[in-house]
Amino acid sequence: MIVRGYGAAAILAAALLASVLVGLPGRAEETDVETGRKKAQYCAGCHGADGNSELTDYPILAGQTSRYLYLQLKDYKSGLRKSDMMTPAVAPLSKEDMLALAAFYAAQRPKRPRIAKGEGSIPFQPDPDRVTAGKKKSAEVLCTMCHLGEFAGQNEVPRVAGQHPEYVVRQLKDYRTRTRTNDAGTMTAVARTLSDEDIDNLAHYLASL
Ligand code: HEC
Ligand code: HEC
Repeated sequence: MIVRGYGAAAILAAALLASVLVGLPGRAEETDVETGRKKAQYCAGCHGADGNSELTDYPILAGQTSRYLYLQLKDYKSGLRKSDMMTPAVAPLSKEDMLALAAFYAAQRPKRPRIAKGEGSIPFQPDPDRVTAGKKKSAEVLCTMCHLGEFAGQNEVPRVAGQHPEYVVRQLKDYRTRTRTNDAGTMTAVARTLSDEDIDNLAHYLASL
C-alpha cells in the first residue's frame, strides 16, 4: 500500500513537473509582454497606448516584428540611429526593458494609417493612381524580397504595411540623404534609386496594405 501510494505521488509529481516545464516558454513570453505593457506607459504619450499613434510623426509600433523593434531601441541607445525624441526616451532602458517593450508592441494589433489634420489626425485615404504606381515601383525594386509579400516584415526587416505615410516618406528621404544610416547599407542603396515622386507613390501603396 505504502509503495503504491508513493508511486502515485511520484507520478503526480512528475506530471506536475512536466506541465510546468512545458508551460515555461509561454509564460516567459507572457511575462515579457506584461512587463513591456507597464514600461510602455511612458511611450504612450507619443506612440499611443497600444502602439497605434494618433499623431502621424510617430511611427505605428503595433504589430511590428519584435526583433526589428528591439534593434531600433538598441540603435537609438548606442547613437547609431539619431532622434531628439527617442534618444532621451531610451536612455534609462536596460536590455531586458527593451526586449519586453519589443515583445509588447509586437503583440498589439495594428490599426489603419492616419494623416495629420490640424492639431490631430484623420484616417488616410490612399490615392488609387498613386497606389498603382507605388505597387509597380515596389515590384521593380524587389522591395518584398526583403520585406516579404505585402510588406509584412520578418525578423530584422520591418513591417511597413499600414504605416503612416508621412513617417514612411521621411524615413525613405532620410536613408537617401544618409541622415539615417543604421541599416548597414541595405536601405540607403535602395533609396538612392528613388525620386520624390516614387517615394510619395510608395507611401500611398504601403498605406493601402
Ligand atoms: C516624445 C515622443 C516620443 C516618445 C516619448 C517615445 N517615442 Fe519612440 N519615436 C518617436 C519619434 C518621433 C520616432 C521617429 C524618430 C526617427 O525618425 O528616427 C520614434 C521612433 C520609435 C521607434 C522606431 C520605429 C520604426 O518603425 O523604426 C521605436 C521602436 C520607438 N520609437 C519606441 C519607443 C519606445 C519603446 C518608447 C518608450 C520607452 C518611445 N518610443 C517613446 C517619438 C517618441
Ligand atoms: C535588401 C533588403 C531590402 C530591400 C530590397 C528593401 N528593404 Fe526596406 N528595409 C530593409 C531593412 C533591413 C530595414 C531596416 C533597416 C534599419 O535598421 O534601419 C528596412 C527599412 C525600411 C523602412 C523603414 C521602416 C521604419 O519603420 O522605419 C522603409 C519605409 C522601407 N524599408 C521601405 C522599403 C521599400 C519601399 C523598398 C523598395 C523600394 C525597400 N524597403 C527595399 C531591407 C530592405
